[in-house]
Amino acid sequence: MSTNTTLQQFNNFLADDQLNKTELLALIELAINIKKNPTDYNQVLAGKSVAMIFEKPSLRTHVSFDMGINKLGGHALYLGQQNGKLGERERVSDYAKNLSCFADVIVARVFSHESIQGLAEHASIPVINALCDVYHPCQSLADFVTLSESYPDLSQVKLAYVGDGNNVSNSLMIMAATLGVDFTLVSPQGHEAQADIVGITKKLAKASGSKLILTNDIDAIGKQDVIYTDTWISMGDEDSTKKAEILAKFAPYQVNHDLMVKAQASMVLHCQPAHLEEEITTELFDSELSKVFQQAENRMWAQNAVLVALFTN
Ligand code: NVA
Repeated sequence: MSTNTTLQQFNNFLADDQLNKTELLALIELAINIKKNPTDYNQVLAGKSVAMIFEKPSLRTHVSFDMGINKLGGHALYLGQQNGKLGERERVSDYAKNLSCFADVIVARVFSHESIQGLAEHASIPVINALCDVYHPCQSLADFVTLSESYPDLSQVKLAYVGDGNNVSNSLMIMAATLGVDFTLVSPQGHEAQADIVGITKKLAKASGSKLILTNDIDAIGKQDVIYTDTWISMGDEDSTKKAEILAKFAPYQVNHDLMVKAQASMVLHCQPAHLEEEITTELFDSELSKVFQQAENRMWAQNAVLVALFTN
């Protein structure tokens, strides 16, 4: 079993900007090693329990954590909405302190990043962000594991995200800039990345020497290796009165065969769930260019790398 001394200060996994390039590369390498040699890691969580809080629906995150924890010899407990909304039935701080009495890790999918911060502040055990309104770091880590499997030198990759500036694109652009990956975000007016995330990303891109392009112009996508997209309406943002307006506004930003040809891209990624014929065509999603199920599987290996790093350093 190999872990890496560069991950020594790793206590929580809350947001993408908390890890530097060396640490991220170590986590990616660890994820690939666990994927290749799962039995070497099957006792890392022996006797340990993970409390998984879900304020929002989930397929991949729930299943990949549950099955992944099982593969590490640990026990996962799903806590859904039956315990009431975080901070309403009980304060976030009390949730964190109570779970710290029984569990060894908290995994949380929440509406607000403040809830993740509150859990991390008050828990005496590590907290992993399994998606909030601002970040989805487990997804971006899995995405760069997936890209590493096709592109051994990530600094040579040109990655474009087309669609809504959201938690997934925030995490992706921060991690891309940290790793030195050229990143283009193409989003409709009014749906760009939020200013503070752009600020963080610009600083990281300057330090790593990568390019960052932010545009509303789909015709300015340029040459890309990989195009990534996500839903146009995220969980928690659903407003049935705005749906028709959003669909019309985003229609030119659909990721389809023509866009792939225009960008000369050879891979398409999607964090799923996909809204077929909205942000991506069924044909492209089901095509040879699509690595979405490899991406989904890598959620488990990436998260297991995070768990292994938390318990072996
Ligand atoms: N941006 C999406 C990601 C789902 C995995 C959402 O937050 O709903």
